[in-house]
Amino acid sequence: MNRIRHFSHDSEELTIVWEDASQSQLQAIWLRDHCQMPASRNPDNGQRLLNITDIPQDPCIDRVSLEDGRLVIEFRPDGHRSEFDPDWLYENCYSLNQQHDDRSEINKILWSGDSFQQGLPRYAYDVFCAQRGSRRAALQAVSDYGFVLLDAVPCEDGQVLKVIEQFGYVRETNYGPFFEVRTKVEPNNLAYTNLGLGCHLDNPYRDPVPGLQLLHCLESSTAGGESILQDGFMAARILRDEDPQHFAMLSQHWINFRFRDDAADLRSRVPFIETNDLGAVIKVRFNNRSIDTINLPPAVIRPFYAAYRHYAEILEREELQTVFKLQPGELMLFDNTRILHARKAYSAAGSRHLQGAYSDLDGLYSSLRTLETAS
Ligand SMILES: [Fe+2]
Repeated sequence: MNRIRHFSHDSEELTIVWEDASQSQLQAIWLRDHCQMPASRNPDNGQRLLNITDIPQDPCIDRVSLEDGRLVIEFRPDGHRSEFDPDWLYENCYSLNQQHDDRSEINKILWSGDSFQQGLPRYAYDVFCAQRGSRRAALQAVSDYGFVLLDAVPCEDGQVLKVIEQFGYVRETNYGPFFEVRTKVEPNNLAYTNLGLGCHLDNPYRDPVPGLQLLHCLESSTAGGESILQDGFMAARILRDEDPQHFAMLSQHWINFRFRDDAADLRSRVPFIETNDLGAVIKVRFNNRSIDTINLPPAVIRPFYAAYRHYAEILEREELQTVFKLQPGELMLFDNTRILHARKAYSAAGSRHLQGAYSDLDGLYSSLRTLETAS
């Protein structure tokens, strides 16, 4: 709680000096729009009842007073009266607070291959299910590092869907609610062979792309087949540091991705590196198997390829990668808009069987915030 030391206003702006000496400067139109009174907001759910066109175009502050600890503002020309809880104003003031942002690189812990010498973020599945604190910590690891490992997940068919139910919702696709990753005869995707797969993000041809992927190991008795993870936000940061023009080329020029088989034809138009209004990275994409025909202005082709090669070379740097072998019962859950994954080739002898599924980030972040509020 922060008390108001004093306040002043003119017709356009209210200035509050708080007890901690910080200042809020709040304009009349913002105050009018953020009115918390029952006529403006539903008291049960806090949702706005008024459209912006329902309030005057240029409201003015007429009078301000402090009554019973609440700041009362009267507006012209309509005589509207708003009462604000000072705590609400302090916590929501746009000159004191950052915008909520749990998606961009700004609030992430970027990592490289030697970042996990104390061990990968890893939680026991039974504790993850039973204890809110463990679930919160594991989901926070996905928010911070982009991935988490769960141990001792029962090796049962479709169990990956039950894991998703712990924090979100299944994102069903043309591969079904979940998919099998093992060697197939006549595969429609190289993932279903024993070949190694380079670092990639899944399904960039979907719009929107699935925000989360889970891979659950049911069997692993082959030689090889190690998993590799890599932080795509770190790779994008390195690209920007090494050559800002290459970074700009890949964030400003959008390309097509495509997947086609007998039953599906999925296409998207998106950039390799997606940034927000502040220029911060929010999503990366890379999947050499599903880049469609590159169609860019003639003058852009050569510089685009130079940037594309540079980005791909960064993604091949082994010092950025963490390598481990998934054992039966282990499951990796990762942010498919940030973390690239790869697989080393494995021998045809023995068997390797994973089940994978997709989910979305909004459900995971919602669960995380709910767990934070409850604790
Ligand atoms: Fe994949």
